[in-house]
Amino acid sequence: MSKVSVRPITFYFRGQKQQIDTLSPTTTVLQYLREYVGSDKTRQTGTKEGCAEGDCGACTVVIGELVNDQLQLHSVNACIQFLPTLDGKALFSVEDLQTLSSSTEAHLHPVQQAMLEYHGSQCGFCTPGFIMSLWSMYENEAEMPSRATVTDYISGNLCRCTGYRPILDAAQKAFDYPKMMLERQNIIDELKQMQDLPPLQLSYLHQQFFAPKTLREFATLRQQYPQARIVAGSTDVGLWVTKLGRELGDLLYIGQVPELKNIKVQAGRLEIGANVSLSDALSKITEIYPDFADLQRRFASMPIKNAGTLGGNIANGSPIGDSMPALITLDAALRLRCGEQTREVNLADFYLDYQKTALQTGEFVETILIPIREPSTAFKFASYKISKRFEQDISAVCAAFYCELDKNNVVQSIRIAFGGMAAIPKRAFNAEKVLLGQSLTPERIEQAQVALAKDYQPLNDGRASAAYRLQVAQNCLQRFYIEKIKQSSVARLDDLIALVEV
Ligand SMILES: Cc1cc2nc3c(=O)[nH]c(=O)nc-3n(C[C@H](O)[C@H](O)[C@H](O)COP(=O)(O)OP(=O)(O)OC[C@H]3O[C@@H](n4cnc5c(N)ncnc54)[C@H](O)[C@@H]3O)c2cc1C
Ligand code: FES
Ligand code: FES
Repeated sequence: MSKVSVRPITFYFRGQKQQIDTLSPTTTVLQYLREYVGSDKTRQTGTKEGCAEGDCGACTVVIGELVNDQLQLHSVNACIQFLPTLDGKALFSVEDLQTLSSSTEAHLHPVQQAMLEYHGSQCGFCTPGFIMSLWSMYENEAEMPSRATVTDYISGNLCRCTGYRPILDAAQKAFDYPKMMLERQNIIDELKQMQDLPPLQLSYLHQQFFAPKTLREFATLRQQYPQARIVAGSTDVGLWVTKLGRELGDLLYIGQVPELKNIKVQAGRLEIGANVSLSDALSKITEIYPDFADLQRRFASMPIKNAGTLGGNIANGSPIGDSMPALITLDAALRLRCGEQTREVNLADFYLDYQKTALQTGEFVETILIPIREPSTAFKFASYKISKRFEQDISAVCAAFYCELDKNNVVQSIRIAFGGMAAIPKRAFNAEKVLLGQSLTPERIEQAQVALAKDYQPLNDGRASAAYRLQVAQNCLQRFYIEKIKQSSVARLDDLIALVEV
């Protein structure tokens, strides 16, 4: 027998409830659409496959979820989302826009009409993906968005032939046509009914998929199946299947646990549940630390941030993960849970070796804890991502700096951390030692730059050479000094000259 399931995967699609219980839990939403939808083989091939790794956006679909009884719509990459993660949600692909616009003469939605009229498509391969990113924007933005907002929405879509200017034009012009909004109430009613379903549990061949609905249930299953792979947004895990062809074994999906979706402020700390999306988590951190905005903007693309979680970024422990250097310098900690027991670990101590963390058997990341500074604390913070492309690229180096200065500009406290410079995200203790208790001057910064060479022996790889990485890390320290410590433009110019001369 190939499958046993307590109940089928249940989600809203094409105007009605869909139930699936015949597919492997690692079937992607894209495979489902293109290869399996409809028993009569009416496959839905509008959604395209380009890269199958979340990079190109040809597969962009929109997911609807109930949040406080309202339907929240966001774009994701269908190629790396596993089908069971749709349970209790609504799925929209490009064909849905046909239904929405069926009453119009042209049978086109305003975003499609605008793409046509403003020449936003040539070969058309990327077009369904762009249309879905733009549709999520159309539904989410009350008024015509700025160019910068459109750029954020299409940050996960690549076009090889048209060029982006006509697409940006079309994205804005769509708001000039007569409105055509999704009728939401029926979908909300369907999703509400699905909330009462028991937790999803699938068995397929030798693989099990669990999607518990409470924290306690999740913690118990984690202890019962410590070998099971936790799946959050699957923006890392998905690629292990689509690119590496790995068998993942049993899967424990964290995405249905409401307690892990909370963001709150408690005892002077921002507490972010492990299952909060990168979009929400990075926005909240930026509200508290406005200098986080650069990193928020440069982190992946909108669909990846909508699906991926901060907990997943931290637990995955990639040496080039972007959130960790900044969070280490902000002195973040993690609350880890095993059954009913919790313990706290400083994020800086969480990484033991390459892809090895302090997580013990049966344990998982429950909450990310970020101290909020007293308003009286004078501090400087910055994080810089260095990558070949501005949008949607992996860092060669990711730098973060935090320091507190007294009124004489003497460093009272300092933390410097880098990604891409070692096997783990790591603090630069030697450089920090040079700066602690000292007035910051160009000469002192230069000494700290030299000390960085003692802190790190970076790797040579396809992304960057060791020499480049070290040089870039040193330059980032200089940039922090110039941008954040010396603020007047005259001082900046003087310092630049001084630093170039030494
Ligand atoms: C196109 C693309 C662009 C990307 N760009 C960036 C980028 O710019 N910067 C960057 O840093 N990353 C980037 N990533 C990587 C990825 O998006 C992030 O690491 C993301 O935060 C992973 O979160 P997730 O929820 O998708 O994790 P998943 O893929 O679901 O899980 C990742 C790992 O964490 C484990 N895990 C998840 N949650 C927990 C938990 N609560 N407790 C214990 N273990 C857990 C899983 O078992 C798995 O080992 C990119 C990925 C793609 C595909
Ligand atoms: S196929 Fe390229 S992002 Fe999914
Ligand atoms: S229109 Fe050809 S790739 Fe975009």
